[in-house]
Amino acid sequence: MRDDDQWWQAGDRHLLRYSGEFIRFLVERAEGARPYGRDGRSVLDFTSGQMCVVLGHNHPALIEGMRAASERVVHLFSGMVSTDVIEFAEHLAATLPATLQKVMLLSTGAESNEAALRLAKLHTGGFEVVALSGSWHGMTGAAASVTYAAGHQGYGPAMPGTMALPTPNAYHCPIRHCRDRCDLTCLDAGIELIDAQGVGAPAAVIVEPVLSSGGIVPLPDGYFPRLTELAHDRGYLVVLDEAQTALGRLGALYAFQQLDAVPDVLTLSKTLGGGLPVAATVTGDEIEADCAAKGFLHYTSHVSDPLAASVALSVLREVLAEHLAERAADMGRRLRGQLEELAERHEAIGDVRGRGLLLGAELVSDRETRRPAPAYGAAVTARCLDLGLNVNIVKLPGLSSVLRLAPPLTVTEAELDEGVEILDRALKETPMS
Ligand SMILES: Cc1ncc(COP(=O)(O)O)c(C=O)c1O
Repeated sequence: MRDDDQWWQAGDRHLLRYSGEFIRFLVERAEGARPYGRDGRSVLDFTSGQMCVVLGHNHPALIEGMRAASERVVHLFSGMVSTDVIEFAEHLAATLPATLQKVMLLSTGAESNEAALRLAKLHTGGFEVVALSGSWHGMTGAAASVTYAAGHQGYGPAMPGTMALPTPNAYHCPIRHCRDRCDLTCLDAGIELIDAQGVGAPAAVIVEPVLSSGGIVPLPDGYFPRLTELAHDRGYLVVLDEAQTALGRLGALYAFQQLDAVPDVLTLSKTLGGGLPVAATVTGDEIEADCAAKGFLHYTSHVSDPLAASVALSVLREVLAEHLAERAADMGRRLRGQLEELAERHEAIGDVRGRGLLLGAELVSDRETRRPAPAYGAAVTARCLDLGLNVNIVKLPGLSSVLRLAPPLTVTEAELDEGVEILDRALKETPMS
């Protein structure tokens, strides 16, 4: 039997590093809110895997979705669909408004956004795509071109026509205009720049309801309806990327229900699969019909996979049956209160923000200047892991360093309390230096 060191020797020899070094916690199994190490030690997972396991790890509904597909059909010729695929699309559509009734089942978040942008380009005839400066939409071509939070440099030219709007972060106002309450001036100023730069070929504006990798920045009140209006006036479709927010995390089944506007295209991923690679791009009858008439092609190996449909249907049903959106709102209130209480005792927490169970605590080395504390953040998360809590830092380099707290929606009160106690201890024991 190999010990941990021997496993890591093999890992270091054969695993390609895609994001720095691997966390030295070798997982053997996972259940609920906890991955377990080989020695039986567990950590509380406040990252929900990679923001996917809304039901918790290895939830019976997820396993049932996989089992059902494995007994019927897992994969098909991409032009063929199974009853699972239709049933899933029907159930998903029943939770969505009349303008979002056409569903394409895919695999990853990046892919769902690629498909959304392809639809937008074909429908509008344009190619220009606008995103927020703290965005994360995925690592594939077009999605990576409009991912500004990280990884934008070093990989050659971005897709022609990509442009950025300032992230409406009231804690670090991008145009040094507001403090703590955004009055949307950054949106008007940003649109002026887009108007100046654009070449008259608008296709899509793509946004997240809460910029998550960009530092847990919820769109301010009124931002999304105003952006939608400005985008439509100019001929852009609006794509809302709900990779992290759909299926309850913010306290509503979908974030757009809290944003006072419905997007033209909605993308779902991470949470929809509950841990399996499942995604969906959803739009309305008119856009779908127009694109179909123009020969829309997004033909991939795993489009409309019955396995994905079966899993997504199981996850969706569980979220609805267990009222997990309401639960996220309740648990989010509790966690937020606890974080605000920590902020009263720890000078290093400059801001607590977010919605539902997608919360951020921004770490600063100076509350007045709001200077970020990236080294401190790294040390705090490392100490948390030692003490049994997995949290991660999301950031805009040089601007913010934010602890992201996003446990599964099934997290218990006792687990929240335990996680906060660990965080408290880690903050106390870590020197700012
Ligand atoms: C908002 C958002 N969209 C898209 C993606 C990309 O999803 P995936 O990694 O499944 O391609 C991510 C991943 O973190 C995300 O946070």
